[in-house]
Amino acid sequence: MKTTNDPLLTSLPPGFNAVIIGASGGIGSALCAHLQQEPHVGEVIALSRGHCQIDLLDESSIQKAAQNLEGKPIQLLICATGVLDVDGHPPEKALRQVNPEIMLREFGINAVGPALIAKHFLPLLDRKERAIIAFLSARVGSIGDNRLGGWISYRASKAALNQIVRTASIEYARTHPEIVLTAIHPGTVRTNLSKPYASGHHTVSPDEAATSILTTLNALGADASGSFIAYDGNPIPW
Ligand SMILES: NC(=O)c1ccc[n+]([C@@H]2O[C@H](COP(=O)([O-])OP(=O)(O)OC[C@H]3O[C@@H](n4cnc5c(N)ncnc54)[C@H](OP(=O)(O)O)[C@@H]3O)[C@@H](O)[C@H]2O)c1
Repeated sequence: MKTTNDPLLTSLPPGFNAVIIGASGGIGSALCAHLQQEPHVGEVIALSRGHCQIDLLDESSIQKAAQNLEGKPIQLLICATGVLDVDGHPPEKALRQVNPEIMLREFGINAVGPALIAKHFLPLLDRKERAIIAFLSARVGSIGDNRLGGWISYRASKAALNQIVRTASIEYARTHPEIVLTAIHPGTVRTNLSKPYASGHHTVSPDEAATSILTTLNALGADASGSFIAYDGNPIPW
């Protein structure tokens, strides 16, 4: 039986450094708490809008946050940012509710922002070392699995994120053969983001989600780079 102090990230070298972007969020803060308990962790670098001022809608803030880490080896990076409601606008139930400004803002935070994270943070990685890079996506971003409709902007922004992760994985596989880049669905997790929409769904706590995510990421080999997976490691159709 695993105890809370058993290491989850055994596939990373002792003293590994971890960066969590979106460390103020429900899942992001649980990931940080778990990582701080890892017996072999080096530094846990927690970045968020409030602390360190990394705003996904402001490329210069992302560039600056990445520059601050230059020279520090990073073996784990998780981007745990994202929005479902935008500025008080709930996800659309039908096409007639599509609002171009809200849709663009959602794309900015859920897709363009992570692309800029990849642009500025991936060059910091060592070419030869194993590194795990995960972007929190959502199962509803799957096109093949979409049977319910609705939530157009959120679904489409997560589908765009998935394509960005896949494309980045192909580019980086050429120069960084040990890198694992993945888009991961965390499950339905009891956070502010899901609160209005979670009733009737099986939910897990942020702590449980963080354990599953880290356990799954730990087991991924470089051959899993470019995948879209769930918290339990099962693949999700694009
Ligand atoms: N919870 C679920 O059931 C669920 C299900 C599927 C997928 N997901 C995905 O999991 C990820 C984390 O969700 P969560 O449930 O932990 O949500 P959350 O508690 O609302 O956290 C969202 C995080 O995103 C950050 N963020 C939002 N806009 C930002 C911006 N412009 N710049 C920088 N950071 C920004 C927030 O920062 P502030 O604190 O500064 O606002 C916060 O750290 C999201 O990508 C979400 O789509 C969650």
